[in-house]
Order: sequence, then C-alpha cells, then structure tokens
Amino acid sequence: MVDLNIESKQFLLRFGKPMEEFRHFSAPGRINIIGEHVDYLGGIVLPAAIDFSVHLWISPNKSDQFNLYSLDFDSLVKIKRPFQSSQIWSDYLIGVIVEIEKEGFHVPGFDAFLTGNIPQGAGLSSSASVEVVTGFAISSLFGFKFSREKIALLGQAAENHFVGTKCGIMDQFIIATGKEDHCISLNTETLEYSYHTFDLKGYEFSLINSNVKHSLKDSDYNQRRLECESALKKIKSANLNISQLYEAKEDDLKLAGLSTAEEKRVRHVIGEKNRTQAVVRGLENGDLTSVGKALFETHWSLSKLFEVSCEETDFIVSELERMGVEGARMIGGGFGGCILVLDKIGNFSQNQEEFQKKYIQKFGYPVDFYQFKISDGVREI
Ligand code: GLA
Repeated sequence: MVDLNIESKQFLLRFGKPMEEFRHFSAPGRINIIGEHVDYLGGIVLPAAIDFSVHLWISPNKSDQFNLYSLDFDSLVKIKRPFQSSQIWSDYLIGVIVEIEKEGFHVPGFDAFLTGNIPQGAGLSSSASVEVVTGFAISSLFGFKFSREKIALLGQAAENHFVGTKCGIMDQFIIATGKEDHCISLNTETLEYSYHTFDLKGYEFSLINSNVKHSLKDSDYNQRRLECESALKKIKSANLNISQLYEAKEDDLKLAGLSTAEEKRVRHVIGEKNRTQAVVRGLENGDLTSVGKALFETHWSLSKLFEVSCEETDFIVSELERMGVEGARMIGGGFGGCILVLDKIGNFSQNQEEFQKKYIQKFGYPVDFYQFKISDGVREI
C-alpha cells in the first residue's frame, strides 16, 4: 500500500550513508469496532490493526544528535538534548525518546527516515503509529527488549506528556499487539486482552473518510476527559463502590448532582458498555444485524451525548442509514475523520457514486472510500 519505491540515494542525500545501513520497521493504523471514548474510563474496547502503515528506517549515528527526516512533509529536523516540543511531526518521535529516558535508559543518537500512507487526522491513529514504530525500533536497535505492551505505554505517555493530548491506551496498544485477521478485546483498566477472529458471513467492514481533519489537541478531546473526571468525582462521593466511570449505573445519575454536560457523557458511557456486550454477542453468533444496529446507536450517542461528531460525519451516517446500510459510525476521537461501515459485500459500492455526488453538493469536496485488511501490529521488515 505504501509506495516503497524509496531509493538509496534519498538516504545518501539526507544522511550521507546508504539505505543498507538502516533497519526498516513498520506499524499499522487501526479501526475500532466498538467501545468509543471509554479507553480512559476503564472500559472495554474492540480495536483491530489495519493495512495502512507508517515505515521507519533507522540507523545509529555515533553522536548525541537525532536527524529525523519525514518524506511526507519533506522536512529534516536535527535535534539534541534538552528536547523541547516543536509542535510538528517530529514531536511523536522525540516524545518517545523522552519517555524511554525517563525510565533510566540512554538513547544514543540516530538517523531516521519516515514515510507512510495512514491519512492524517482521519481517526486511524497515524500519530500513535509513529510513536509505536519509534519505540519498537529504538528498543530493537539498542537492545532494550521492551515488551509490546510496554512500547504501547511509552507511546501513550509521549502523546500525553510531550504532544499534549490526554489520549487513552487503545490506539498504541492495538498498533503494538495487533494480529492479522484478529481484533482484540482490551480491558483498559487492567490491560488484559485476548485475540478474537470473527466470521462476517457475507458482510464486510469498510471506511469512508469525511476529509474533515481533526486535531485532537486543538479539539475538545481533553475537555471531554475533564468532564468525565469531574463526573466520576461526583458519583464517587455518593457511591463509594465505584472506581471507574465505566462502572456507573443509571441509578448513579440520580444521586450525583451532575451538570447537564456531565450527565450526557455518563449516559454515553453506560450505553456504550451495553452496546459493546451486544456487539461481542453478535460477532460470536454471526448476528450481523444486531452488530450494525449497535454501530448506528453508538454513532448517535457519540454525536448527541458525548458531542464529538460534526455535521459532515452525521450527514454521512444519516445517508447510510437511509440507504439501508447495515451499520455505520464515526471512529476514534471524533470531530471529523472516518466512518466505519458494515454492509453486505459489494452492496454499498453500487451506491458510492450517488453518495459522493450528494456529499460534494452539500460540502463542496469529496469523501474517500477505503477498503482494508486486518493486519499485524508493529514489526521489523
Ligand atoms: C482517540 C484516542 C483514543 C481513544 C479514542 C476514542 O483515538 O487516541 O485513546 O480515546 O480517541 O475512543
């Protein structure tokens, strides 16, 4: 999928040494079947890695300098300690170095070449993918032997502390641990997880990119987290048995004296827990109708209760519902990005043209349609 027609002369040009002196690593993007905006509340999520990917070539340079080149931005960053955030793509790599060093390891200088085809700001986790490939590559190159789970946590810490988005663990975790043809069921409180295959019985998942780019940092993502934290505090003061918002029940809503916004967020979380159970059952029993129904319900809950959708993604989902597609919802942080679609194989593709016309008419630019395969997590090529 990525155009890997990358020539040694590009490496010679940037770093004065041939491609053969670099090790090559790759990390996937991800989808999430269900369990949205619950991975920082102790919830269960069902993500899978997909065959969009970032590629990182890396080679030690026997100095204390980091020379980082992004082909996609055509940008070369040369950076030394003390590290400071520069609010650009290189933060995702530097943040990981910073987190590794907080653990008492010293990361020697290296040269790195980065490219990929995960659309940015599309809710497919391009940034988590860069963090995970960086952690995995550094660990392999310098013999740190971090587990995949540890690499996920380092990536999340980089995002939380260096980049500044208070994301949960889902994205980095699935990118580190993904397995071809499997999703995982991850308990984000304990980090216990298991692999699952599922038979879609003549149905398929695909993606529609609304092409509304989100930036989680500039968005209300961090604000949602704060609202959930304050809701939990209030519920806890009335119900001492609860430690994570994912454990909240309808009755807690009455007790807690929540603000209107807090109440809506908690209602989403309670509903999402029930829908996740329905989707797990549906996938196990091959009942794709109930899976599809839960996906639509999740979308409208994210839109009306969690308030992380936008006009364009709402429009896409309403149109799909009207056209009789089995299920669809926004995925990831929200405020734009991709819609996950569940439908009978080949069904929706017949209506794509008509759909595209309507979208362009309304918003003035097109969507993109993506097919994908469920793939492995981070690896050396
Ligand atoms: C983003 C975050 C994840 C998760 C999702 C919403 O992708 O990085 O941690 O919170 O949004 O489920």
